[in-house]
Amino acid sequence: MTDYVTMTSDAPITRTGAIKLHGPDAFAGMHKAGRLCAETLDMLAAHMVPGVTTGEIDRLIYDFVTAAGAVPATLGYRGYGYSSCISINHVVCHGIPGDKALKSGDIVNVDVTPIVDGWHGDSSRMYLIGDVPLKARRLVDVTYECLMLGIEQAKPGNQMGDVAHAIQRHAEAHRYGVVRDFCGHGVGRLFHDAPEVVHVGKPGTGPELKPGMIFTIEPMINIGRADVKLLDDGWTAVTRDRSLSAQFEHSVGITETGCEIFTLSPAGFNRPPY
Ligand code: MF3
Ligand code: CO
Ligand code: CO
Repeated sequence: MTDYVTMTSDAPITRTGAIKLHGPDAFAGMHKAGRLCAETLDMLAAHMVPGVTTGEIDRLIYDFVTAAGAVPATLGYRGYGYSSCISINHVVCHGIPGDKALKSGDIVNVDVTPIVDGWHGDSSRMYLIGDVPLKARRLVDVTYECLMLGIEQAKPGNQMGDVAHAIQRHAEAHRYGVVRDFCGHGVGRLFHDAPEVVHVGKPGTGPELKPGMIFTIEPMINIGRADVKLLDDGWTAVTRDRSLSAQFEHSVGITETGCEIFTLSPAGFNRPPY
């Protein structure tokens, strides 16, 4: 049985395993946090060019988020020391910013999570660096479509399996692998909360979607096999077969009629190229 809890002002914010049904205050808070998150990713577009290092990109994110009076949630999270995750080519997720420079032909995911007034806006996008081969651009396109097809299923009465199935079906129709090792998640005052949002599954399975649920959808799609491996740094996840991987992430809230996407780009930079 899935456990749901209707949020009131004195409801606990600890991770209990119950799925929170948030009220209008949470939607207002997530709207603000989601907007700063999207503005951060918009700001980056002009800087995602050959020669820039991932450390420099992370610094731009830190400066932008803190100038807005917000805090990067990843900074100090479980010992992680940066304001973003930057994942290049065969890196699936949780790439650590550093001295590596972007080069023409790279596909790069940047994932940011600013905390605004206690609310976490969590989103990531792919950026195309210089001239990107068609094969890689196609992966990025299909991954974006996977996210949006999943979001289309995020409405009351549907189940998590409907979201997962829409993603899996589209990815596998292109003979891509859907990563199983990482999921979307409930988000709000907590960075990672219930429910788990899987990206593979069967229609009509999993928790029912109800108005007030707030979570991320963040499919990771590989050109090759779905299998990932963790590098010795304890964070960086790469494809086992070294094939290219792409990811997009939005934070959404279930409404009476569908869902609100909190992390839509004010600049219209949702789908590459931008
Ligand atoms: N932003 C990632 C997510 O979508 C989580 C990154 S946690 C970190 O859930 F510690 F690796 F930064
Ligand atoms: Co997330
Ligand atoms: Co994220």
